[in-house]
Amino acid sequence: MKFTSVLSTVALLFVSKSLAMTWEEADVKAREWCADLTNEEKISLVTGRENMTGVCVGSIDPIERKGFAGLCMQDGPAGVRNARGTATSWQASINTAATFDRDLLYKVGAAQGKEFRDRGINYALGPSVNILRAPASGRIWEAYGEDPFFVGECGVQVIKGMQDSGTIATVKHFVGNDQENNRGASSSNIPEQALWEVYIDPFYRAVKDAEAHAVMSSYNAINGTYSVQNKKLLTDYLKGKIGYQGPVMSDWWSIYDVEKSFGAGMDINMPGGKAWGPDYIGNSYWGEHIQECIDKGIFPQERLDDAALRIIRSLFKAGQMENYPKVDLFVDTLTEENKALNRKVGADSNVLLKNDDAVLPIKKEGIKKIAVIGKDAMPPRLCTDMGCADGTLPLGWGSGTTDFKYVIDPLAAITERARQDGIKVVSSGTDNARSGALVAKEADLAIVFVQADSGEEYITVEGNKGDRLNLDLWHNGNELVEAVAAANENTIVVIHAPGPVNLPFKDDVKGIIMAGMPGQETGNAIADVLFGDVNPSGHLPYTWAPREDYPTDVKYDGTLPGGGEQKTQYDYDEGLFIGYRWFDKQNIEPTYPFGHGLSYTTFDYSELNANMQEDGLHATLTVTNTGDVAGAAVPMIFLSFPESVKDYPIRLFKGFDKVMLQPGEGKEVEIVVDNHALSYYNLEVGDYVKPNEGEYVVYAGSSANDLPLKKTVSASAY
Ligand SMILES: *[C@@H]1O[C@H](CO)[C@@H](O)[C@H](O)[C@H]1NC(C)=O
Ligand SMILES: *[C@@H]1O[C@H](CO)[C@@H](O)[C@H](O)[C@H]1NC(C)=O
Repeated sequence: MKFTSVLSTVALLFVSKSLAMTWEEADVKAREWCADLTNEEKISLVTGRENMTGVCVGSIDPIERKGFAGLCMQDGPAGVRNARGTATSWQASINTAATFDRDLLYKVGAAQGKEFRDRGINYALGPSVNILRAPASGRIWEAYGEDPFFVGECGVQVIKGMQDSGTIATVKHFVGNDQENNRGASSSNIPEQALWEVYIDPFYRAVKDAEAHAVMSSYNAINGTYSVQNKKLLTDYLKGKIGYQGPVMSDWWSIYDVEKSFGAGMDINMPGGKAWGPDYIGNSYWGEHIQECIDKGIFPQERLDDAALRIIRSLFKAGQMENYPKVDLFVDTLTEENKALNRKVGADSNVLLKNDDAVLPIKKEGIKKIAVIGKDAMPPRLCTDMGCADGTLPLGWGSGTTDFKYVIDPLAAITERARQDGIKVVSSGTDNARSGALVAKEADLAIVFVQADSGEEYITVEGNKGDRLNLDLWHNGNELVEAVAAANENTIVVIHAPGPVNLPFKDDVKGIIMAGMPGQETGNAIADVLFGDVNPSGHLPYTWAPREDYPTDVKYDGTLPGGGEQKTQYDYDEGLFIGYRWFDKQNIEPTYPFGHGLSYTTFDYSELNANMQEDGLHATLTVTNTGDVAGAAVPMIFLSFPESVKDYPIRLFKGFDKVMLQPGEGKEVEIVVDNHALSYYNLEVGDYVKPNEGEYVVYAGSSANDLPLKKTVSASAY
């Protein structure tokens, strides 16, 4: 992390210092604390007791004899769930990722962590570091995109921020929950090398680099064995090879037995009951059945000791065993700072996909009237868990969303901002193509707001059961854009969506902005960029292409009972070749490559140098702002591995930075690729291995398809 940022970060680091404890220190304290626990008390620690008060989505009972207040779990990752407007409704994680800004990622984590802690919530249920494997997958907006290195980097910053604020980050969903359809009755069949390098790797980073204090398992099976019963994954890989010291918590109601799940290495059953409802308070597959299993010799006493120890150890590590606030979900934490940070991340996450004739930013001169068109520019209807798409789209639906206190809609924000420049705004607040074209005709510039939504499978919105049915815009979006573009040659499209959408109108409009899901300050965030108050600097954390060009997709095959024998089979046959790696290999030109994102200025990349040092590969390059306005560049490093690594992607994304540059200014940037990122998973060795012969080729530039600089580095030279 860089220590260039503001005082609040410094203050947080100061707080965290006083709380910080090593795992070894926490272990000593936890063993001492657990020494006199009875089995009954240990069982109460591991078995959730969701008691329908609606405060915490999961809770663990107190142990009064020990002065232990119990534990509270609450969803993430877009903020504190169910807080009835008292908490910040942050942007989607995919937006935080699109900033490619480690400082912002950390700050968001820290600010969110504080909101959880102030409420006495012990475990924030996030971040999610699942991989965007298929663009239609419902929950892609809750995580950080398609590239495992990048997803890991984002997760690490957010976890550090959260945990420095004193809350426990629960990194999820371990592993392979990469689509919603039949997630509780599906098997992700993942080849070993891809399992480690693509799907486990962000968890590996979270544990090793961010000391994540909690991990949540997934609903799905891996190779036919449910993650909650997968001893190889939980005990051998996560706790064994990776050395994870904290507890593994189940995803809600994903445990259907005690023998296999507890025996496999699950430590916390959430929410604890066999199903949802008052009848299931204290009626668990675990609870007293754990003791029965110990008595029958199904698993040893040590398994229970270990699970309890893991929970307490991570509480000591997190500094939560003393003076943790009492649970109160409705403490007001919607501060001006949080609103400002949400607005900044929203603005910085706008990805300018296209800007012909420099149609943006909106200039005072010559523009007297602008037309704002589309229902997506209007105030939204706020349904439970955002299970509707009506008005502007600030977040997707499901457990990962929030209760909004307010949403700044684009029309209101643009109208207010335009007034400052003496620009008149006309609007058509529906998706009716004829009405849109009519107002567009009389304006100097037309901005069309369109959307597509997705979410979690327990809610179906407009026929989409979590996963999107297709990548088309919703609500007549294409027809609306085409009609407006036909009426006004200065047409700009703003897209609110979880990920890629089809763009049949791409050549007919001058500007396109991917705004993602920016949270409560959405309108201000887009106005900031449209009027040039903020120079866009967001980049795509995924490849944007037509659906059929991706190697992977979701399946829609009805509904199977969760936890059953019959499962939807997801074969990860593409192996390592997801996202840009596939497009490189197949030589397919995507609509927009991974990393793409324009600015109101231009950047030049030069003078790439690279050498191998003990701590990894050090690359330096010079980035120069060659345009007329200040702006932030995101230099990116991709690597080709030595030839001895067979059947490997042509290039892998392995480094980035974000640099603010004044017009004409140039800066030298150093990007270090650490030894883990220089390694591949060697099947024979059964571990990550860094090649020490041959050469890496370092590429630098601004996206997966724009890498003008190249340098060769010997793998062994230092
Ligand atoms: C649930 O927990 C709350 C808070 O600890 C407590 O006041 C309430 O009595 C509990 N209700 C049930 C049904 O156990
Ligand atoms: C899953 O199956 C694949 C293909 O047979 C194998 O490479 C991998 O090791 C298996 N993974 C686990 C966790 O069992």
